[in-house]
Amino acid sequence: MDRHQDKKRNKRCFYLSLFCVLLFIIILAVVLGVTLRRSTDQFKQTFISRCGNFEGYDCQKIWEAFEQSYIGKDPCQVPMEAYDPFIAVAPIKPACNRMMFWSKTKYVVHDFTEKRDCFITMEDTLMGFVLDGLTWCGKEGSKETFTTGCPGWTDCENNTVRSFWSRASAAYAEAACGHVTAMLNGSITAPFSPQSIFGSIEVQRLNATRVRSLNVALVTQENFVTNCTNASLKDLQETLDEGIKYSCEEVAEVQIQECSSNPETPCGACW
Ligand SMILES: *[C@@H]1O[C@H](CO)[C@@H](O)[C@H](O)[C@H]1NC(C)=O
Ligand SMILES: *[C@@H]1O[C@H](CO)[C@@H](O)[C@H](O)[C@H]1NC(C)=O
Ligand SMILES: *[C@@H]1O[C@H](CO)[C@@H](O)[C@H](O)[C@H]1NC(C)=O
Ligand SMILES: *[C@@H]1O[C@H](CO)[C@@H](O)[C@H](O)[C@H]1NC(C)=O
Ligand SMILES: *[C@@H]1O[C@H](CO)[C@@H](O)[C@H](O)[C@H]1NC(C)=O
Repeated sequence: MDRHQDKKRNKRCFYLSLFCVLLFIIILAVVLGVTLRRSTDQFKQTFISRCGNFEGYDCQKIWEAFEQSYIGKDPCQVPMEAYDPFIAVAPIKPACNRMMFWSKTKYVVHDFTEKRDCFITMEDTLMGFVLDGLTWCGKEGSKETFTTGCPGWTDCENNTVRSFWSRASAAYAEAACGHVTAMLNGSITAPFSPQSIFGSIEVQRLNATRVRSLNVALVTQENFVTNCTNASLKDLQETLDEGIKYSCEEVAEVQIQECSSNPETPCGACW
């Protein structure tokens, strides 16, 4: 009799544990699902709301084209070309004579272009603006957008974020026309690096049929390391499409800052 009751109790105990474990799994799945959803939703919200700053675009359609580039894919196997359909729905509007390129001068360049309406950078175009500073990736077998746990810039060649910037920069350079400017860093030994986005993607795509000249503004600080005679800048000249005029000018960082904070100075007089 006692034994029989014991058995019964054991059985009840077993089912209760089973129930608890199942309940726990279900709760975990729901919480995880909600967290992932929220990550996708937040990223999408940022994307759509930034996109809303540009008039005349269907941001929902642009989001869908963007999402298709990486959703459900291994985040290390997203080549540049994956973004072609996205680039096609959000093309870059050429701004002749105002297009600015940069390498290792991000802070100074954007401080300048934010305050003064002289130049635009990749980050001022719709797709550059929408994705500036963000991290995103997909995962095989998932429809979510992840914003954490994504591979870093150098973890693998074809990662979601890096391929985007490569593809977008290619489109930006292909749209360049007239006189273009590049702000390079005079505080490093080689201001032109063939491995940078500027060196490996953009310079090759400046086309002499549209671009008349490339003018380098080499930003110098108090005890600057290099100047316009540096050999790396000779490499830059040699990489340029024949027919594009080249010039280089050393510009003190303080001069750029002064020009940024003084809207009366005409753009042409900044350096
Ligand atoms: C990255 O993608 C390109 C195509 O854009 C491909 O040629 C290359 O082999 C890929 N690299 C790796 C490491 O998968
Ligand atoms: C140039 O590079 C140095 C070293 O990375 C950095 O400290 C400096 O702020 C950069 N200069 C500009 C103008 O961005
Ligand atoms: C420049 O554009 C022309 C015509 O669009 C093309 O034939 C040529 O290959 C391009 N050159 C470069 C260096 O991309
Ligand atoms: C440029 O730098 C080199 C050393 O890298 C120096 O010999 C030369 O005098 C400098 N030129 C100017 C114009 O400052
Ligand atoms: C000039 O450029 C070359 C690379 O092309 C580099 O090795 C050299 O250190 C650079 N800088 C100076 C200050 O000479």
